Amino acid sequence: IEPDYQTLSQWAANYVASRINAANPTPEKPFVLGCPTGSSPLGMYKALIELNKQGKVSFQHVVTFNMDEYVGLPEDHPESYHTFMWKNFFNHIDIKKENVHILNGNAEDLEAECANYEKQIAEIGGIDLFMGGIGPDGHIAFNEPGSSLSSRTRIKTLTTDTIIANSRFFDNDVNKVPKTALTVGVGTVLSAKEVMIICNGHNKARALQHAVEGGITQMWTISALQMHQHGIIVCDEAATDEL
Ligand code: GLP
Repeated sequence: IEPDYQTLSQWAANYVASRINAANPTPEKPFVLGCPTGSSPLGMYKALIELNKQGKVSFQHVVTFNMDEYVGLPEDHPESYHTFMWKNFFNHIDIKKENVHILNGNAEDLEAECANYEKQIAEIGGIDLFMGGIGPDGHIAFNEPGSSLSSRTRIKTLTTDTIIANSRFFDNDVNKVPKTALTVGVGTVLSAKEVMIICNGHNKARALQHAVEGGITQMWTISALQMHQHGIIVCDEAATDEL
């Protein structure tokens, strides 16, 4: 628990940098990082860009896999997760383009796209550190309430709550928000060697309460983190209001 958003973002960035540095990655043995979108990780991405500029961490031998992507949104749409990641992170660090993996929500065969994503993660030896945020309903990536806790990468229909929450990025028009997305599963996240979740603000307090004090349930998919050996939640004071 950190006092505010800025402090938690710096803490998270320092932690990620320390894990990458400790692994001493090489082209043969890269560090594999799972990346989220959303407003929660923005401060951490900014702090990581700064650490990269200062030479305190390098992404040259870091391979990334993003959590999710909308289905049917053009890749260059301002709200696609492709655009988000390049604009807010990848364009500003020394990562190699070929090391970035983001699900293709416009693939002709979406099921094959998901299966191939899982295959690529397995082939590289799994994810070392999966970073994530949570939705106000406790979803992780786009694993909406009711998602199987052993789910893998697949197509998911978004709940009305999520569509309303995300409409703020689509001119406040729910009709412009894609109704489906590709997302890694809860099982995919749990398979990572380490998971770090960023949670800030009072509107996440209920989700954090379910995550930490509730039982493990598919209705609050973040609660599955309780089963992980190396799960970290980095939050601000406001997010702890219900604890
Ligand atoms: C979306 C993303 C999630 C993210 C959530 C919360 O639903 N798919 O990965 O955690 O939004 O976003 P924010 O951090 O903006 O509150």
